[in-house]
Formats: sequence, structure tokens, C-alpha cells
Amino acid sequence: MQKLKQSRAMSTPRPPIQGLYGGRTARIIGHDSPGPTGKDRMTPDNEELSRLRDIALAAGELQMAERDRLRSIDYKSATDMVTDLDRRVEALLVEHFARAFPEDGVRGEEGASSPGTSGSVWHIDPLDGTTNYVHRHPFFAVSLGREASGEIDLAAVYAPELDELYLARAQGGAVLERPLRGTRRDLPPRETVTLERALLATGFPYVRDELVARNCDLLKSFLLRQCHGVRRGGSAAIDLCHVAAGRLDGYWEFALNTWDLAAGSLIAREAGARVSDFDGGGGYLDGHQILAAAPGLHEAMLEIISETLRHADA
Ligand code: IPD
Ligand code: CA
Ligand code: CA
Repeated sequence: MQKLKQSRAMSTPRPPIQGLYGGRTARIIGHDSPGPTGKDRMTPDNEELSRLRDIALAAGELQMAERDRLRSIDYKSATDMVTDLDRRVEALLVEHFARAFPEDGVRGEEGASSPGTSGSVWHIDPLDGTTNYVHRHPFFAVSLGREASGEIDLAAVYAPELDELYLARAQGGAVLERPLRGTRRDLPPRETVTLERALLATGFPYVRDELVARNCDLLKSFLLRQCHGVRRGGSAAIDLCHVAAGRLDGYWEFALNTWDLAAGSLIAREAGARVSDFDGGGGYLDGHQILAAAPGLHEAMLEIISETLRHADA
């Protein structure tokens, strides 16, 4: 893995994925290269993406400003928390979307719902990784994905504590910006990865039912196949973005909601990862199951998932 990462970092940068920023700014600024200084100079040309970027930054700013305050916590179930901040960020997002995308509908995890007139709907997770946020673990994000005719066409995931802002447009590629560092780079297409060289991740549902046992079966199968490891980061949106960015190679989870994965699934796909349900089909947007992985690895993981689940059912 280390070797893989090094050789990727040393290789000549690929040509930029055309179109995300409409040409002018679609050039690669490496992780460590001095990017433009100041947020404004990184504003993408694509008008919609630029508006979306501003919204994601505003939400992340509020998450950061509030992160050291004592939270009032309600429990949706014994293990599923919601804080006052989840609701405040969602309220802020609703206001911003009404101004920036007045014709689009909105569906938020904390109850926001408006149909809009355009036929497009924003799936909003104001705080993905609430448990992490409450425990001051840095993996939390805002996740914003727009669905048009059953497909996600625009996406942003911003993890402010990690200084990672991911943006993607369908067929336009994906970008990772680090607003505090002032860097930005197009995410190059994921290359083939074998299971033996792969770092994987998963998540567990809040409802501690038989799916937990199912997922433990999958976890065991992947570990026994000698992959490099399996992480549980606590934010589905970040997991998907990390598959896009090559920090993870494969990620699977049962029982998510559309707002958890709408944005991250597009970002992963636009970075060349394969995204599917556990049958290899496109039915993951409803959140029941999702598998996102680098080419090659995706097929291998699908096979192990189906074999393991078949066994569990027998
Ligand atoms: C959760 C996170 C977590 C995943 C859970 C989600 P939340 O979202 O994405 O990684 O395992 O299934 O519900 O509740 O923190 O927005
Ligand atoms: Ca979530
Ligand atoms: Ca949430």
C-alpha cells in the first residue's frame, strides 16, 4: 500500500478531468503544492458548483465554531444521537438552498422537506458523523447531493476538521480542496487494486439488530482474506470520499439513508471508483446496501460479499 501510494504520488500528474470547473481552473494543484491563497481564488467557474461550495463551507464553519460547546443531545434510539447542532446546520442549509437553488427541492435528515419545482432534490446530511462530533473525533462532515431523474448530478462533502472539501459534477470529475491549506487537486481515476493490497472500511447501523451480525460476518471474511485492514471511520460520506481520494480502497455498508451517501457516491464514481449495491447493480441510492471500491477490487469484494451472505442465509 505504502509503495502504491508513493509511486502514485511520484508519477507525472494526469491531465485534468475536463469540465468540473469549466476549464479555466481545471488544472491540478498537488496536495503539497502551493495552491492559490485565500478561499476566493479557488472559487470554481461552474456557477452551480461555486454556489454549492459556498454552502458547504458555511455549514462546515458553523460545525467548527460550535464544536467545543456542550451539546444538548436527544436520542432517536438507544445509540442514535441527534444534537442541537445537527438541527441548526440543517436550518442554515435550508436557508442557503432557498436562496442559491430556489427551484430545487430539499430533503434533510432532520426533517427538512420541500418538493421544489425543478424536479431535482437535494439530499442533505447536515452532520454526518454525529457520534464522532459528540466525542470530538475529527471525522464529521456536511454532505450535500442533488438527485435529478434518479441520478446524483452535483455533490459536495466538507469535513472541516480534516480540511477536506470534495466537489463533484456528473461526468465532470471530482476535486479535493483543502481550504485552510489553500490547495486543490483534481482526483485522478482510481487504478486497479487487489484485495491483498487494499485498505477497507465499513460502518455499522445504529439499530443493533441482525445486520450487525451480518456485517461482522463480512468483516471477518475480508480480514481472513488478508486485506491490509478494515477501518470504521464513523462517517459514510467521508468513507466514500476517502475511496475517491485513494485513502481507502473499498468501503461497504448496510442500511444507510440517501442523505448519507448521495454526495459521496457521486464523488467516488467521478474519481473512477465502482459503486453498486451488493448485487453489483445501481440500486444503492435508497441506502440499503452500498459497495464502493477501486476497479478490480470491486469485483473481488462483490464475490466475497455474495459468498458470505449466501453462507449466512443457508
Ligand atoms: C451515520 C454515519 C456512520 C454510519 C451510520 C450513519 P450520522 O450518519 O454515516 O458512519 O455508519 O450508519 O447513520 O447519523 O452520523 O449522520
Ligand atoms: Ca449520516
Ligand atoms: Ca446526520
